[in-house]
Amino acid sequence: MSQSKKNRLDRFISQTLFERDPSRPVSKKQVRLLAAQNRIFVDGEPAKSTGQPIDFFSRIELDGELLQNNWPLYLMLHKPVGVVTAATHEEHKTVIDLIDHPHKDQLHYAGRLDLNTSGLLLLTNDGDWSTALTLPDKSVEKCYEVELARPVTEEYVQAFEQGIWFDYEGVTTRPARLEILDDHHARVWLTEGRYHQVKRMFGHFRNEVVKLHRSSLGSLKLDPVLQPGQWRELTLEELLALKEEGAPFQRQTSR
Ligand code: URA
Repeated sequence: MSQSKKNRLDRFISQTLFERDPSRPVSKKQVRLLAAQNRIFVDGEPAKSTGQPIDFFSRIELDGELLQNNWPLYLMLHKPVGVVTAATHEEHKTVIDLIDHPHKDQLHYAGRLDLNTSGLLLLTNDGDWSTALTLPDKSVEKCYEVELARPVTEEYVQAFEQGIWFDYEGVTTRPARLEILDDHHARVWLTEGRYHQVKRMFGHFRNEVVKLHRSSLGSLKLDPVLQPGQWRELTLEELLALKEEGAPFQRQTSR
């Protein structure tokens, strides 16, 4: 079952039993009978109606046998340079390759980083959560540390604040904050995530980004304990803070 899609209980039971034994299809009517006999449990409770909505994290049992039992996963990874944000890649190691977790095959990333960008990358199996974090209209603020080939000047601060025209998409970027740290270093906060956005914004001034590192996403900071390539699960406090910022997470289902 897809990680963000809702499903109906009867459809899920019929599909799952059919996948297990295609020679014995189970109709919706038969599923209704199973429910009436109290043989189907959803999250530990007897099924109320076979039309009841379920999702990827609903725990489904039939005759005491688990048909589905997915546990929500929320991870932060310190993405190193040279690792690609993709599930599979012919040439490069992927961010998923860096995760040693029994359910890593369920993971996808919430917002990508370029091959040569390092820093905070979120991975999850909760499609609603990653969508909420990356929605273009209410995306949380991301902070990047930038090293530049040429000196950065005050002129940039105003241009970033006003927005920069992106010819390819035909849009002006949303107001972005820029803090100049020294001649060649700056910090920038974006509330959107367009293709190569930071590089293209500095590219407007013909100034090449030579190093790019994402240090935070909303209130969530990359844990300084994590070395490049290391990851950990988000804490409940971190999840609650991101919920306040518009990304509700899944209740924990009982295993
Ligand atoms: N902007 C970029 O140019 N690259 C990234 O990886 C992230 C933001």
